[in-house]
Amino acid sequence: MAGHVLVTGGAGYIGSHTCLALLEAGYRVTVVDNLSNSSAEAVERVAGLAPPGAAIELVVADLLDEEALARVLAGAPVEAVIHFAGLKAVGESVTEPLLYWHNNVGGSLALFRAMAGAGVHRLVFSSSATVYGSPEAVPVPETAPLGPTNPYGRTKLAVEEILRDLSASDPGLGVALLRYFNPAGAHPSGRIGEDPQGTPNNLTPFVMQVAVGRRPEISVYGDDYPTPDGTGVRDYVHVMDLAEGHVAALRRLEAGPGCLTLNLGTGRGYSVLEVIASASRACGRPLPYSVVGRRPGDVAEVVADPGLAAEVLGWRARRSLDEMCADHWRWQEANPEGYRG
Ligand code: NAD
Ligand code: WQD
Repeated sequence: MAGHVLVTGGAGYIGSHTCLALLEAGYRVTVVDNLSNSSAEAVERVAGLAPPGAAIELVVADLLDEEALARVLAGAPVEAVIHFAGLKAVGESVTEPLLYWHNNVGGSLALFRAMAGAGVHRLVFSSSATVYGSPEAVPVPETAPLGPTNPYGRTKLAVEEILRDLSASDPGLGVALLRYFNPAGAHPSGRIGEDPQGTPNNLTPFVMQVAVGRRPEISVYGDDYPTPDGTGVRDYVHVMDLAEGHVAALRRLEAGPGCLTLNLGTGRGYSVLEVIASASRACGRPLPYSVVGRRPGDVAEVVADPGLAAEVLGWRARRSLDEMCADHWRWQEANPEGYRG
């Protein structure tokens, strides 16, 4: 056995795929999730995909319940935590900032206190490219200026800063702050995937809901950006590449303490129209779209410089946009209504 990992938010999109990668790498996994944006079914399906004998347990609890966290940590020999749990809808964070600060920062503080109480010294945190705000130049290195432009992004930066302070105060602590670019795709089995509640905020789940007939057409938010086809360019990264990046970060922390800040992206950007074309190939028909006005707060191009993650973790994203769309489509076609279908 490689060790025991507590995964907060492990029933969610990126968390569920990472749990599977952890089980495949020989870790035992305890998930803590309040299921506010996910389903217990995701964890059951992860268990079904995992190698025989793999151990995964779901504890339904809220991160803000510090006593519940302390009980979980007292009951299992946890060596490391991967912290995905949080709210992530940019628009909602603008209308409900208190909810975001309370849940994302308050929940993280409760977790870090419970970890300190239980003597757990390793943590991988889900940060986001959103901490860069509107990048001055692409590709974006980790040293680029930080300046999130919405409350969600500011909660991510606040948790990064708390962790940098904790790391400076305790030389025994190992922390990895992973800044994901645009996660997309699903496990190739089609058994687990992204299951957004309500109208998807992000491009790829929206496109796939059009492909499966849940929505009539895609709205393309602007075609007058200074990009080759005028639509926004992003660095889409396969969720299984991200999952493997977490295992690599954990292994790196096992080799020694410190605080790492790393971009997880591919270094290659695709436009909205290129994503629609790739999704159309995946589902076998041209997907309908209309160009509408720009979405407030959007920028023309965000692409990672993934060089540091390659150097420090030996990790590189390997999967293509076409694989992301093919895998996402396999999940969507088999589960048109997600886990509730
Ligand atoms: P998700 O909503 O699918 O997963 C988050 C999980 O956390 C959900 O299962 C939810 O029920 C749980 N959760 C939320 N608040 C909780 C609380 N107080 N206590 C216990 N559980 C709680 O989201 P995801 O896409 O898998 O994102 C995972 C993490 O990665 C988040 O922190 C998110 O901010 C970050 N991130 C996501 C993206 C993206 O585009 N998906 C990009 C960059 C960073
Ligand atoms: C991608 C591109 C849109 C929807 C967000 C968060 C970021 C991170 C990832 C969490 C853009 C265009 C989108 C649609 C469209 N999440 N688009 N029609 O905005 O790059 O990043 O998710 O940390 O913090 O801000 O991702 O998927 O929303 O948009 O044309 O219906 O698709 O304008 O160019 P974004 P996205």
